[in-house]
Amino acid sequence: MFDETDGLRVNWDFLPALVPDGLFEAMFDAYATVLHRLIDQPATWDLESLDLGGVGAVVVEAAPRAARDTAPAWERFWAGIERTGSGGDVLWDADSGDELAWCVEQAATHFNPDRPVIDVGCGNGRYVRALAGLFPAAYGVDVSASAIDRAIAETTEKITYAVVDAVQPAAAQELANEVGAANVFVRGVLHVLDDAARDGFARSAAALTGTDGVLFLMEPSYAEDSFGYLGFVGGVRGRAAALVAPLERAGVGHSIRFGDAELDKFFPPSQWERLASGPVDLHAIDPDSDTSALRLPGYHAILRRRPA
Ligand SMILES: C[S@@+](CC[C@H](N)C(=O)[O-])C[C@H]1O[C@@H](n2cnc3c(N)ncnc32)[C@H](O)[C@@H]1O
Repeated sequence: MFDETDGLRVNWDFLPALVPDGLFEAMFDAYATVLHRLIDQPATWDLESLDLGGVGAVVVEAAPRAARDTAPAWERFWAGIERTGSGGDVLWDADSGDELAWCVEQAATHFNPDRPVIDVGCGNGRYVRALAGLFPAAYGVDVSASAIDRAIAETTEKITYAVVDAVQPAAAQELANEVGAANVFVRGVLHVLDDAARDGFARSAAALTGTDGVLFLMEPSYAEDSFGYLGFVGGVRGRAAALVAPLERAGVGHSIRFGDAELDKFFPPSQWERLASGPVDLHAIDPDSDTSALRLPGYHAILRRRPA
């Protein structure tokens, strides 16, 4: 708040991706109403309660139970991307040899070599390209058509790409009917899904892995909350604020913790056998360096579906 010659100037900064549409504007209007009352009606200062009633009340609608449809936001994001890889516009696409090699090693150790691999939420396809040679067939699916166009343009390997919304188990089942039981690779998708979407995603993963496939999950996981994540990579003082801004403008949701507790909730041990799990670093573009990546604290798990 600034005391200027013609009045008070009030400035609130906020991250649109963190609050429901209109909430922050309603809060600001309510706050301005209180300030005007204090200025116009000095007796207000002596009241025990401002008794805002309907004037300043902020009504927040209960969160919808159905999964938020994030497909349009992801499409807006990918449609605006001009450059991928190191030095590009896509925060998580650091093209880190170390991280790619670690993922390939995990897949070689745990995946079923006789079944295809499907990268779910493949983005521009960097990881499925690294995995393709290990398996009889490779697929990359993403909810965004622009991501899939980009993946196709960047790929010379034999990989089949398709637009699939992975939180819709019926769509995943259609793919499963075509591919059969598959190994499923997932990097950085569950942390941007809400609970309803995670539930749908887990049912899709079950359809895709069937009885013979293995599921690999790898997600950023901040011990504190999304503000820890934003403080590190995004937000006005974050290391990669310029790369986070296009995600916020597109309306992509903020990062939500995915760790041990969330794994057990959405992939319960009664249905999924845990082959491995634990902390891992995810590599993201460091705008301050041409040679090294930002290391985001993350979590990984490797699971196999128990026989029904
Ligand atoms: C953080 S990016 C990770 C991309 C890629 N896995 C990687 O690590 O390079 C998340 C990706 O998930 C995709 N995505 C988000 N929701 C999805 C959904 N419901 N179904 C399929 N893909 C989804 C986004 O379009 C985006 O490409």
